[in-house]
Amino acid sequence: MERRGFIKKGLSWLAYILGTAALAYPVFSFINFRKIRKKTVVFYPDEQLAAANFKEGVYLIRKGTDFNALSARCTHLGCTLNFDAVSQQFKCPCHGSLFAISGKRISGPARTNLISIPVKREANGDMEVEFEI
Ligand code: FES
Repeated sequence: MERRGFIKKGLSWLAYILGTAALAYPVFSFINFRKIRKKTVVFYPDEQLAAANFKEGVYLIRKGTDFNALSARCTHLGCTLNFDAVSQQFKCPCHGSLFAISGKRISGPARTNLISIPVKREANGDMEVEFEI
């Protein structure tokens, strides 16, 4: 094979490989679209003082010395909930669903309670919350 032919063939293969990769990328991205990923949020001791503290999509709820966590995602269409410290309720800014501080649905278009997430207390006093996103 001549040198020029070898280079042409090599460039053709390179173009073929790059073209295939460019076409395959969206397909693999779509396949991984619903892949469940986990996220860990750590609440440091100074972030555990309020009745409900929001951080990265999750609320840490303090009831005396007990803690639990709730997803901040509204169970209607997924908007991020706001906590009203006066009424001690979660309010959805999108369509007005209302949830108790326990996560129980009170009113609005949402039909289910908020998702409860286990809390792990670390030896140094941090509260670790791991949830699926
Ligand atoms: S998204 Fe919360 S009420 Fe619709």
